[in-house]
Amino acid sequence: MELFLATRNEGKIREIRELLKGYDTSITSLRDYPNAPEVVENGEAYRDNVLKKARFFARWAGSLTLADDSGLEVDYLQGRPGVFSARYAGDGADDRENNRKLLRNLKGIPRKKRGAVFRCVMALVSPWGDEEVVEGECRGQIALEERGKRGFGYDPIFVIPRYGKTVAELSIAEKNRLSHRGKALRKLKKILKRYVGA
Ligand code: IMP
Repeated sequence: MELFLATRNEGKIREIRELLKGYDTSITSLRDYPNAPEVVENGEAYRDNVLKKARFFARWAGSLTLADDSGLEVDYLQGRPGVFSARYAGDGADDRENNRKLLRNLKGIPRKKRGAVFRCVMALVSPWGDEEVVEGECRGQIALEERGKRGFGYDPIFVIPRYGKTVAELSIAEKNRLSHRGKALRKLKKILKRYVGA
């Protein structure tokens, strides 16, 4: 069985591959198709974005397709940047710019008011129209400064208080055990078993 990942994000692909190790499936992604069409993520809700991407690419690729839309919701910012996390520092902003903008906006805010949650919504859509949507979340705190070199996105400024480390200081296996994406994908695994050997 072939599973198509409707993302170009290398970090997400690495984590999903690791989580699906042992499944008898060949995994491809948008990174294998540089000329594939773009799907604009202009929904106001994660669910709208993942379903739009997964439905489109399930037809385009003719394969079972997994899409992921994630965001960081900061308590002090009333849940922002949320669904707009990728563009927090502007269209085309990179991870570093987004992280720096968030640290600037929380300057002087004490640790206990820096709570945040990473949210991940995943959709699995088959070419014949079956659809499943799952969600996972991971609570933590925004760090006072960037720390760690692993992971991607906001990982260097997202602290897991119980570990006293940012997610960028964790191994991929440790991150997958507690992350929003790990939790969402573990829910989908039961459904995936219907399609692929395990
Ligand atoms: P999108 O789901 O690709 O739209 O990502 C939304 C934003 O959240 C991007 O800035 C990502 O880098 C960031 N993001 C998504 N998942 C993670 C994660 O696991 N760790 C850190 N940042 C993430």
